[in-house]
This record gives sequence, C-alpha cells and structure tokens, in this order.
Amino acid sequence: MDLFDVYPLYDITPVKGEGAYVFDKEGNKYLDLYGGHAVISIGHSHPAYVNALSHQVKNIGFYSNSVKNPLQTELAQKLEKLSGVEAYSLFLCNSGAEANENALKLASFHTGKDRVIYFENAFHGRTSGVVAVTDNETIKSPFNKGHKTTKVAFEDAEALEAELKKEDVAAVIFEVIQGVGGLDEATSEFYERAAELCKKYKTVLIADEVQAGYGRTGDFFAFQKHGIRPDIISVAKGMGNGFPMGGILIDKAIEPKNGMLGTTFGGNHLACVAGISVLDVIEKEQLLKNARELFDYVEEKVAEIPQIRKLKGRGLMIGLEFDFEIAGLRKDLLFRHQIFTGAASNKKLLRILPPLNIKKEQFDAFFRELKTALKKYE
Ligand SMILES: Cc1ncc(COP(=O)(O)O)c(C=O)c1O
Repeated sequence: MDLFDVYPLYDITPVKGEGAYVFDKEGNKYLDLYGGHAVISIGHSHPAYVNALSHQVKNIGFYSNSVKNPLQTELAQKLEKLSGVEAYSLFLCNSGAEANENALKLASFHTGKDRVIYFENAFHGRTSGVVAVTDNETIKSPFNKGHKTTKVAFEDAEALEAELKKEDVAAVIFEVIQGVGGLDEATSEFYERAAELCKKYKTVLIADEVQAGYGRTGDFFAFQKHGIRPDIISVAKGMGNGFPMGGILIDKAIEPKNGMLGTTFGGNHLACVAGISVLDVIEKEQLLKNARELFDYVEEKVAEIPQIRKLKGRGLMIGLEFDFEIAGLRKDLLFRHQIFTGAASNKKLLRILPPLNIKKEQFDAFFRELKTALKKYE
C-alpha cells in the first residue's frame, strides 16, 4: 500500500535524536533548530523522559477514560504549579487541532451560540471546525466551509466589537504570537481590549498556546506577558516532547457535564508520564530562563548580519526576516550545513524553534554557518 501523498518530503531519514541533534541513517548529524515543528521541548531522547516512559510502558501503557488514572491529576497539578495559572480544570486529548476543536465545542455549549471569530493569518489546525477558523482557504473543503465563522484583521478592536455586538459569537480564538502566520504579536492594549469585549458580550476567549505555550516564549504561556485571563487555553506540541498529546485548560466558571467532551486515547498513562516528565525537566533545568536569555543572545548575533531585516518573536520562538525569499537559504542550511529550520507563510521569514534546552554554543554554530550560507546571497 502507498502512503497518501500529502507531505512534500526532504530526502532525509532521521533514525536517532539526542538533545538538539538528530542523526540520519547515513550517520550525518543535524542541528535541530526546528524541533520537528516546535514539538521537541526538552530535547530529543532526554534521559529522564526515556526512563519515565520505559518504566511506565513496562507497567501499563494504556487504559481508557472509564477508570481512575492518578497520573492525570499529577499532570494537572504540576501544570498548574509551573504555569502559575489558577482556577482552571484540565481536559486531555491528543493533538493541537483536537484541543482547539474541543475548545470551540465547549465555548458553543457554554454560550449556546454558534459563530466563531478568528484573525487574519491565524493557524489553528486542520480538522473540521479549526480549519474553518484558519486563514488559509486552500486547506478548507466545502464541508469545513459550512461552519459559521468570521475573519477579523489582527489588532482591529473596532472590527472585533462590531462582530461581537451581533451577540451570536460563541468564541474568539487567537494565537498570542502567530506561528505559521509569521510571528506577529499584537500589543497588550489590543489583547486587554479583546478580553474586555469578550466579557462584555459573553463570548469565550480562547488562547491557542499550542505552539507558543509550554515555555517556548520564555513565559510559560505567551498570553501571560499581556496580563489577560483567557477562558480556555489550548496546548499540545511541547507538552509531550514528541509523544502525541494535547489539552485544554478550562476556566472553572465553565461547568462540565458527563459526556460533553471525550476521547479514547487522551490522557492515557504513557501520555501523562511524558507530560509529567516534560514539566519536571522544564522546572529542573530552568528552561524558561534559558529561553529568555538565549533570545537576548540571538538579538546580539542578529545585529552582525545585515541581510536580516527584522528579528521577530520571543524566547525560543524566533523569526528572522530577510530581505529576500528564504526557500533556497533554508535548503542550503539543511543540505550543505546540516541545520533544520522552519518556514512561514511570510516567504522571507526563517523560523527558529529549537528544543528549550539548546545552548549558546549551538547558536554560535548556527550563526557561523548562516554567515557562510549567506555569502551566496550577497
Ligand atoms: C498555533 C497552532 N495551533 C494548532 C495547531 C495544530 O496542531 P496539530 O498539528 O497538533 O493538530 C498548530 C500546528 O502547527 C499550531 O501551530
């Protein structure tokens, strides 16, 4: 049987990972500044993570959500402690799209309304409702387009209020720093206003922290810099360091009812252990501090490279905007310099999403190789 051909593939076969490096089947070593799309938070095959998962799978890897699983409670408590957010409950699922899908469904249950507002350049996933609130018409089928949604310009509080006033809006969903869209972040003033408006018009505010959350920006959640309190926070990617898991943190004012949400695999034993291990390592290795400090270092290094027009993002969610389209440079970095990086819908933006325990010396190596690679583009 052939694989359904939906991914343009690089001719590289990784067989091993270690910290910020991956190794292919020919034994070539790559510096991973992409983290498999912001997923690798504590580094490939972190020993504490490998031990925790190996130990758990020897005992029990899975049982369904019809029995007690104290690991879920342990994960929720650790997440609350480390993130510093209070009075939320946790629902566990399996991916970013599923987290957002559940967030939208819950918002609609809670408000009794059915329209969702999203922003220009947003990316929230590829399943039914969340692709409908993603700003990319090419990945929406006629079925997806059946949802009631409205796109609003990013940072346009007036347009947002004009829509909310119609009083049929269940949720406003947003990324504090847009990932796929190209690392744009609105002002605190805008986020505060959006939160106020949602309260006023009884609309649920959903912060999609699937990519920016879990310490990537140097804060545990990217919204924390702006002093707002979303009603629902969605998480995935870095949460499991590669183990497929996601979740939503739900304000306690939103009441649960049996059967309202559910999943077979979500919150299974192995996923919980992966999630607990990630939080333990983030805490022990002070990875939020590392993300903040390394951004300052990157800022210094970027100043030495005239072809970089703008440094975007925060912490280890970084965008380097060049004065030319970067597809060729990105390929050169991968195939000539053995460095994985990411792209965005902004074709001039190189995205850097490394493991959160990447070291300064590894950034030195990147900037050395980048300067060499850029000679071709002078
Ligand atoms: C902000 C954001 N939300 C949601 C998703 C979807 O997550 P998943 O691919 O796990 O479904 C992504 C994936 O890139 C994302 O960046």
